[in-house]
Amino acid sequence: MIELKDVGKVYHASDGDHRALDHINLKIDDGDIFGIIGESGAGKSTLVRLLNLLERPTEGQIIIDGDDITNYEGRQLRELRANIGMIFQNFSLFQQRTVLQNVMFPLEVRREPKAQNAERAHELLRLVSLDDKASRYPSELSGGQQQRVAIARALANRPRYMLCDEATSALDSRTTVQVLDLLAKINAELGVTMVVITHSLAVCRHICNRTAVIDSGHIVEEGLTANVFANPQSKVARELLEWGFEKAPESSESISSEETDYPEEVGA
Ligand SMILES: Nc1ncnc2c1ncn2[C@@H]1O[C@H](COP(=O)(O)OP(=O)(O)OP(=O)(O)O)[C@@H](O)[C@H]1O
Ligand SMILES: [Mg+2]
Repeated sequence: MIELKDVGKVYHASDGDHRALDHINLKIDDGDIFGIIGESGAGKSTLVRLLNLLERPTEGQIIIDGDDITNYEGRQLRELRANIGMIFQNFSLFQQRTVLQNVMFPLEVRREPKAQNAERAHELLRLVSLDDKASRYPSELSGGQQQRVAIARALANRPRYMLCDEATSALDSRTTVQVLDLLAKINAELGVTMVVITHSLAVCRHICNRTAVIDSGHIVEEGLTANVFANPQSKVARELLEWGFEKAPESSESISSEETDYPEEVGA
């Protein structure tokens, strides 16, 4: 379980201090696919980057599996990051590495035996239906395929949690559904708890059992996704409903075959 207690974040920017998050209280249960939805600049990426300490909170506690992680350094930090996979909007694959080498990267960082790494990477590529593309380079894949490689890489260390920051924003609606359905399968079959950051109502509705709405650094409402959007309490949620007339994606039966800000420390 992930619990945020009175978490705040102030950035010290070149033009002065900026409060990105204020008094955030959230509980993400094991097995959840937890959506965090809000407009651009609301603080979504900041919030998700606090969970694996790519950013440190200014105030408050972040409790993961009963432990306050906010002061983790060294070995504890490395273990935390191995336990939390992350995927991004722009896939963030290493362009000079093949698909297989991308998936092996987090294992190499942990200095696992090489033969075992390749075996594990092939197993993960089979899970995302891309084992036949193992020797290709990212530039030789479609966007949806690249995101599936990124998902396989994020799972390399058998994390209990996965953070998805606008993971489908660069994809068309059909490919979005394929990637969302893959995330739902990973949640159901491997028991990986997901935190899904999005500005899309359709994404929340498609896979998130719970949703929190964030506005200007504040959580303005939170609950079962169906309830939040059946009876929105906040102005932002009402606006998302009013303006978010994207068609809800239909479920896909199967996955068809169709630049880099991946922080190296995520793989560590
Ligand atoms: N490194 C930084 N230094 C200073 N301010 C920052 C920094 N990163 C983000 N911010 C500010 O914090 C606020 C929240 O940014 P954040 O990236 O979390 O928003 P977001 O909800 O992810 O937006 P988007 O949907 O556009 O990705 C913004 O006002 C942004 O300008
Ligand atoms: Mg963002």
